[in-house]
Amino acid sequence: MTSAPAPEEGIAGGGAGLAGDGRVPRHVAIIMDGNGRWAQQRGLPRAAGHRAGAEAVRHALQAAADNRVEVLTIYAFSSENWRRSAEEISDLTALMRFYLERELKTLEKERVRLRLIGDYAAFGPELVERLERAVERTKGNTRLTLVIALNYGSQAEIAAAARKLAAKAAAGEVDPASIDEQAIENELQTRDLPPLDLLIRTSGEVRLSNFLLWQAAYAELLFLDMLWPDFDEQAFADALQVYAARNRRFGGR
Ligand code: FPP
Repeated sequence: MTSAPAPEEGIAGGGAGLAGDGRVPRHVAIIMDGNGRWAQQRGLPRAAGHRAGAEAVRHALQAAADNRVEVLTIYAFSSENWRRSAEEISDLTALMRFYLERELKTLEKERVRLRLIGDYAAFGPELVERLERAVERTKGNTRLTLVIALNYGSQAEIAAAARKLAAKAAAGEVDPASIDEQAIENELQTRDLPPLDLLIRTSGEVRLSNFLLWQAAYAELLFLDMLWPDFDEQAFADALQVYAARNRRFGGR
């Protein structure tokens, strides 16, 4: 990321000129799809597509910060991705290790807080230690929160919330009759993040693939035909313009 003015440094209106009036989404999530097809179109191995995808993450992060988005959540590895070949899983894990190593300084310099969702312990103690160290080192940063979803599955997240509430009910700490939407939300891994406003998926596929199902209840959905490695700062700014033009009614009229 290059240095961009921080919100508290007072640039009027924000990057898109829309901040402060609800037209800039506070929380954007991205399903980064199409790395494999991007590589295939160029006769390259899938790993090259994932490397290009990691570069696109830098662009998305920069654009989110420039446009004063508060939270950017990216789907880096779904709980279904374990079905891929051992070689591809190892490529993706190596890329994450490399990215963390290279980008930690940038995150610190740009005042980005790193957060994780998903059952990331599955990646083994070494990567877990690096991930948690990065979370710890950036926890005081306030310009942007980058949430990386790793071994994340939304249905598993909701089931875990149900289990916690059931355990509390069994222990007499919670009255089952009092369990409402807020009670479930309070047990989700996203509990302390702002509501999801905009969910983007690249590559032309039109599905949520078990990503933030609960959180997407009132989010605007945007499905783009471009492949993830082609996603750049302009694409992010264009997505914000589409969002700003949408009429969010939250079920009202
Ligand atoms: C989907 O493309 C992408 C993934 C499964 C992994 C996303 C990972 C990255 C963008 C890079 C690493 C992430 C970080 C945080 C550094 P696909 O392989 O499903 O593409 P295809 O559908 O065209 O085959």
